[in-house]
Amino acid sequence: MSTQEAERRAVVAFAGGAFTRAHARLVGDEIDLSSLQALRGSGALLQQARRVWQERVQSEYRSAQMMQRLLGDALAAGVPFDAHASLVEMISDELRHVALCSAVVRALGAEPCLPVPLDLPQPAAFLAMPAEARALAIGIAQLLVNETLSVAFIADLHERCRHPAIAAVLAATLGDEAQHDAFGVSFVRRTLAERPEPERARWCKVAEDALRPQREAAQRMLRELSPAERDLQAWPDEQLVALGLFSPQRQALVFQRAYDERLAPRLASLGLL
Ligand SMILES: [Fe+2]
Ligand SMILES: [Fe+2]
Repeated sequence: MSTQEAERRAVVAFAGGAFTRAHARLVGDEIDLSSLQALRGSGALLQQARRVWQERVQSEYRSAQMMQRLLGDALAAGVPFDAHASLVEMISDELRHVALCSAVVRALGAEPCLPVPLDLPQPAAFLAMPAEARALAIGIAQLLVNETLSVAFIADLHERCRHPAIAAVLAATLGDEAQHDAFGVSFVRRTLAERPEPERARWCKVAEDALRPQREAAQRMLRELSPAERDLQAWPDEQLVALGLFSPQRQALVFQRAYDERLAPRLASLGLL
């Protein structure tokens, strides 16, 4: 398939039969998104909502891919078997999030698309590592760093969003992500305890690399804000939050709060800071 075709690859379903039944079980009770039709008239805001929810389709798809790799590496590494069921559940959860975000994109009048390139390349150096080291690296980057930040972002939107359909999608996602976040801490703690101490600097770097893109983006934004603007109250984002969106200023402040209050203490307690 050419890149152009891949770029247009929409989220599609096998219609009917066993797949539809399994999909319905995965996604659960359907959320009524019909009220989003009323928001379609709002020009630039609508475009922004489509773009952001489309990005969420793709990042949830990437999360599903990462979780699937983590399960493969964890099985290859022989991690304690009580971790397996949680990993399987997390793959399902991420696929549910892809479906939920896709439904929002459709309700907003656009076509959800998969990430490009669809395959997630793995560097040769990463593949050359033993399975237990790959599992730990994914655990640190995906479960510990990214899930902690995801929970903080979704929780901030969910707390303030009064649009029933968007709030329901955020609530469904938040419940799962909070569990991933909790699992991540214990998975990393247990796996890290089995690694030789001299490797510690290497695992700190994995955490640092996973954090860097979001931290640098937040720092760039925060540098532009006056002291008065460095307050969440200054960015109520009323119109944006109805659609499950942030202003970049509020997102940077939420990042900073999540880092200071949740992520940094977690990393420090694991010896990863
Ligand atoms: Fe997710
Ligand atoms: Fe997740």
